[in-house]
Amino acid sequence: MKTRVVENMGKYTGQILEEIYSQDVIEKRVDELAKQISTEYAGKVPILIGVLNGSVFFLADLAKRLEIDCEIDFIKVSSYHSGTQSSGTVRLLKDISCIITDRDVIIVEDIIDSGLTARFLKHRILENQPSSVAFTTLLFKRECLKLDFEAEYVGFEVADRFLVGYGLDLDQKFRNLPSIWAFPVNMNL
Ligand code: IMP
Ligand code: MG
Repeated sequence: MKTRVVENMGKYTGQILEEIYSQDVIEKRVDELAKQISTEYAGKVPILIGVLNGSVFFLADLAKRLEIDCEIDFIKVSSYHSGTQSSGTVRLLKDISCIITDRDVIIVEDIIDSGLTARFLKHRILENQPSSVAFTTLLFKRECLKLDFEAEYVGFEVADRFLVGYGLDLDQKFRNLPSIWAFPVNMNL
């Protein structure tokens, strides 16, 4: 198991991160999802809507592997103000800039935790009457769901640990790590 020590991050300094999904494992899984989406959307041109900022790495890798045409746009919401605690409310910070009416939309997220962000996004997209909406998330903390929500394409189901890397951040840090790392279990962050 690869580990790394957190440096220069105030109260998090000295914490030990464990690598839970290597670059290789992520690449294989993203490839599988891309194949599945390519098959299920054959003959269509879906619009991938990436949820900023966390989904950018996943969206880029997924889109490059699709065997169908697609369009790409972004939306930005805020649900976590700082650290690892959710504020419980979701705010729209940047809306999509394309027209999605009568289009096939695939929302691309890094991780589903409580499900509040995912539900908000799905409702927001549905207001514009697309012909279909699907949800893909690289990671899904199913045991943390606070409401009923299902994603059509899930990379990995993960346990309740705080994760960073491959787009996921803690106070905006660690996003650029190429693999996915976990903070210790039950750590009081
Ligand atoms: P939810 O609304 O509670 O499902 O939270 C979703 C958002 O919280 C994700 O888009 C992430 O930005 C953030 N988030 C949830 N869990 C983690 C984590 O383990 N690491 C980093 N960000 C997370
Ligand atoms: Mg996010």
